[in-house]
Amino acid sequence: MSDNLHQLRCFGCGARIAGAEALPDFRCAVCGDLFEVEYPGWGERRGPDRPNPGALKWLWRERKSSSETLDRSGVWRFRELLPILDSFGDAVTLLEGNTPLYHLPRASKALGIDQLFAKHQGMNPTGSFKDTGMTAALSVAKERGFEWVACASTGNTSAAMAAYAARAGLRSLVLIPDGKIAWGKLSQAMDYGAVTCQLKTDFDGCLTLLTQIVKEAPIYLLNSVNPYRLEGQKTPAFEIAEAFDWNVPDHLIVPGGNLGNSSALGKGFREMKELGLIARMPRISVIQAVGANPLVRSLEENHGASLEPMEAHTRATAIRIGNPASWRKAARVIQDTGGWCLDVTETEIAIAKAEIGREGLGCEPASAVTLAGLKKLRADGKIRSNETVVLVLTGHTLKDADYTIDFHRGTLLTAEESAGKEAEIGALQRNAVVVDATAAAVLAAMKGSLG
Ligand code: F0G
Repeated sequence: MSDNLHQLRCFGCGARIAGAEALPDFRCAVCGDLFEVEYPGWGERRGPDRPNPGALKWLWRERKSSSETLDRSGVWRFRELLPILDSFGDAVTLLEGNTPLYHLPRASKALGIDQLFAKHQGMNPTGSFKDTGMTAALSVAKERGFEWVACASTGNTSAAMAAYAARAGLRSLVLIPDGKIAWGKLSQAMDYGAVTCQLKTDFDGCLTLLTQIVKEAPIYLLNSVNPYRLEGQKTPAFEIAEAFDWNVPDHLIVPGGNLGNSSALGKGFREMKELGLIARMPRISVIQAVGANPLVRSLEENHGASLEPMEAHTRATAIRIGNPASWRKAARVIQDTGGWCLDVTETEIAIAKAEIGREGLGCEPASAVTLAGLKKLRADGKIRSNETVVLVLTGHTLKDADYTIDFHRGTLLTAEESAGKEAEIGALQRNAVVVDATAAAVLAAMKGSLG
């Protein structure tokens, strides 16, 4: 019996096709929009394929103590809600997911919100949330017999894809913008054996070119236009709901780049609600960098009816995206859940990142937009002190060590960017100091740090 229960539905015109009928660029042949995975059997109230919420909660908890490989993956532990493979035995896994949910005591206190948490997706095998999506979509690629997989990337997708491709014994092709990705991520793609091309264009240019290439050669596209990526990326929603004993938090805050992640998390919560696993959805808010804020503009200017691509600039290179593929899906998630979409400055990102570091967690700059955004939402009175808030930290701090070092050395922000914030920034900076190799000098350095 096949484990496969899915079909694809166009997000724009509603056309339905079988998974194997998707075009290489995953665009609808009728209207050009993106597809979403759907499970027809879930709609029939008493049908044999409709999952039973009580049984699932029990089963998923049991699997936490199982030693079976699939059960130990935080994605495939929930496999009843992503029946996308002919056989779950084909899944390519690095035991992703099951990431920690941390309380943020310092930020909680500073913002007057008791229940403030970080879901740290940077604690995945390759250091970012992309692993949860990659295990799903790359497993489909393998099952469908592809030899080559490819992605355009600001760095993390390529690191994840290259790792999972290596695990599966597939070849991988990475297109990245020349000079605009963090070295840690580039080094991963190299180590995992990807063919890595640095193109003299930005992320949006890389994705456009790759879309052409996959139409000409049998290469499986693994960007988040691939709807199976989002199936894996929805599973942190299940983990969060489970961690709160199926009483979902009031508010989830997610960074926005190509907008696949916010779309996926929204889908995860929506499906849980439809299946009766949870009683309500959290508000889902998306935060972008001021220099890469096409969704903020779209929602402000025309309520998400259209999106004007822009040339993107931000030091948070992971979200340096001006023409996000999944913007319609993300706009729907924000609107359906009553969330907000706003942008934060380079200075706000840098400060928030250092503050998350002070919590003993750390994250990459793109992840820190969540805390920066929360501060704004709190200041605007949009989040009350008794609400439960979860920030989704998408990448590990070691992904972009240059950014962190530049911040602490005082070479990251311009004088203009720091203006008025010097004291706040100074209190967070901890540059390494060169001292004589004597006890007295080291003790003096310690004393100096208290000042
Ligand atoms: N945070 C990090 C660390 C990312 O790497 C990305 C996206 C995002 C947030 C935004 O997520 O695109 O789903 O809205 N990185 C992609 C990449 C684009 O190629 O690694 P999104």
